[in-house]
Amino acid sequence: MKKKILWALVLIAIGIQFVPVDRSNPPIEGEIAAPPEVAQILERSCYDCHSHEVRWPWYGYVAPVSWLVAYDVEEAREHLNFSRWDQYEKEEQLELVEEIWEEVEDHEMPLDIYLWLHRDAVLSEVDRQTLRGWSTTFER
Ligand code: HEC
Repeated sequence: MKKKILWALVLIAIGIQFVPVDRSNPPIEGEIAAPPEVAQILERSCYDCHSHEVRWPWYGYVAPVSWLVAYDVEEAREHLNFSRWDQYEKEEQLELVEEIWEEVEDHEMPLDIYLWLHRDAVLSEVDRQTLRGWSTTFER
């Protein structure tokens, strides 16, 4: 009986690897034009979810974790997509910049779970001040 259950689990683990996962990086349609020191931070710490230049990690290829990664990227792009920045209305861009700073100030972004595995994406105090300074240039 125990052996049967074990085999069933192994088969399920293999079987779920065949569920298709969308790991595409669609074409870039108007990337954000930020000063280089800002762009560098966004690319390093945000682009793995909020862009069309996601570097899919190895665990992004192993179900069921891959489903979570793909889901996060989909959700993240829906809220904020640096690769489609030009497609937002001016008003929307202003709101997003405001939200970017709010999320960074409150340590809500980048997501904790991502930072566990990507220590290089942790924002330093200098990074945070750079983003802060950049966001204030948009203030109305
Ligand atoms: C590991 C993936 C991941 C990374 C990396 C990441 N985000 Fe997000 N982000 C998400 C997801 C998922 C959402 C949507 C759900 C939510 O709000 O938690 C989101 C939502 C947002 C929102 C919208 C919040 C709202 O309330 O609508 C902003 C702004 C944001 N992120 C900014 C950033 C910034 C700035 C960075 C980099 C410093 C970043 N994120 C890095 C996954 C990520």
